[in-house]
Amino acid sequence: LASVEVDISGVQPGQAITVMWRGKPVVIRNRTEKEVEEGKAVKLEELKDPLARNANADASADASDANRAAAGKENILVMTKVCTHLGCIPLDESGEFGGWFCPCHGSVYDTSGRIRSGPAPENLPIPPYAFLTDTKIRIG
Ligand code: FES
Repeated sequence: LASVEVDISGVQPGQAITVMWRGKPVVIRNRTEKEVEEGKAVKLEELKDPLARNANADASADASDANRAAAGKENILVMTKVCTHLGCIPLDESGEFGGWFCPCHGSVYDTSGRIRSGPAPENLPIPPYAFLTDTKIRIG
């Protein structure tokens, strides 16, 4: 399907669901306030990949937490869950930065899905998406 519509009304803070879009898993995580704050607190110079990798933002946008989510919906992270190293599927809520951990070669992503350690070169990509309502998202 070129696009999928997802009802996120049942996804509570701290929970995530994964849907398939164009053959790839896309995770939608309702981040807790703490997770958003952790993402915001990271200085850009600490990041291995300085770019947002967000299909909804300018290609040169930096990887600040604000550029990884939609304005006014900072708690909702929509992200393609395919490791940017060699394409394994990272595990939710794991790894030392509280985000995602790729079991294949140990890449660790933070609560914004940004690569923090391990061999992966780039942040997990944000696909094109839009909020249709407060609780419905269209991906693609
Ligand atoms: Fe994820 Fe290698 S594929 S670390």
